[in-house]
Amino acid sequence: MTSASGKPTTTLPGKYFTDPGIYQQENEKIFSRQWVYVGRESSLEEEGSFFVHCQEQERIIIVRAADGKPRAFFDLCRHRGTGLCSGDSGKFSKYITCPYHAWSYGLDGELISAPNMNETDGFRKEDYPLKAAACSTFLGGIFINLAEDPIDLENHLQPLREKFAPWGISDLQIAHQVEYDVAANWKLIVQNYSECYHCPTVHPALNELSPFRATSNDLEEGPFLGGPMTISRAGGGMTTDGERCAAYLPGLEGEDLQRSYYYLIFPNMLVSLQPDFVLVHRLTRRSAARSKITCEWLYHPDAFSDPGFDPDPAVQFWDETNRQDWEICERSQQGVSSRAYTPGPYSSLESMLPAFDAEYLKAMN
Ligand code: FES
Ligand SMILES: [Fe+2]
Repeated sequence: MTSASGKPTTTLPGKYFTDPGIYQQENEKIFSRQWVYVGRESSLEEEGSFFVHCQEQERIIIVRAADGKPRAFFDLCRHRGTGLCSGDSGKFSKYITCPYHAWSYGLDGELISAPNMNETDGFRKEDYPLKAAACSTFLGGIFINLAEDPIDLENHLQPLREKFAPWGISDLQIAHQVEYDVAANWKLIVQNYSECYHCPTVHPALNELSPFRATSNDLEEGPFLGGPMTISRAGGGMTTDGERCAAYLPGLEGEDLQRSYYYLIFPNMLVSLQPDFVLVHRLTRRSAARSKITCEWLYHPDAFSDPGFDPDPAVQFWDETNRQDWEICERSQQGVSSRAYTPGPYSSLESMLPAFDAEYLKAMN
């Protein structure tokens, strides 16, 4: 990659990976302003099921309402602001009740009862619903947006709708989930995901199944980045033994049967489309130098009804690949934190990284 000066484009300065001020700015300008992926719709099994998404000082309750749709509310009571949820997931009865003075809210956020408040002049329950955040779904995933007037998610993700359609992601179910705690800035993790220049050294097994040069990109700028890689073994898959763990996903045909696709959905969702399953990484920032990564292996419902179904070879393969990546990301974090670090040149095999940096800097400015 070359810049206008004819020199290679370079990595970001160290402050972007270490500075608490920039970390705070990212919260304001990216994570509180853009659509953020928070989890699978299927994890809210029934009416009243909830989980809490934590983002800096905010706790956002994601709950399945009576109409079946997920809603997002700030975890605070409209009386004196008390946090409503004690755990990070669970199920509300019909109501969300504050543990302080027992004000109770419906699953759609409406204040239903406020004990003894009828003795208070001028008080009207309808004036105090829970504070809602924008909440919408795409491909079976739940996205929230803390902005006052967010852009439409449907419109925003439109370029991916048709592209992702053959994998039928909304119908897929979670076969396995792993959570990782990684001592690295979230951008190092996105950048690591977005290139395979490191595959021969860091992932010899992966590189054998899918060589790093058999790769290209079909989304090259903006909030969605990535593209396909070829799987070398005919009819094979990305697993410990190079075989698929399940039948091809039913919507796939042609070259998609012999390919993996890897995409970033800015800012925090990484989607790997495989011939027989889909892998999703969800990034949550913990500090400038620490990230939580939740990884989910999604399979077609038909795979689960096959008595011989065993996703383990795919789980093991990607768990090992993940750990190789996290280790190298942690070493990157150490290096970019040094006073001696200066930005280095991106290789032509890393074209998605300057594209990511450009999108990131656009959002930050
Ligand atoms: S703070 Fe919630 S009912 Fe008083
Ligand atoms: Fe990697």
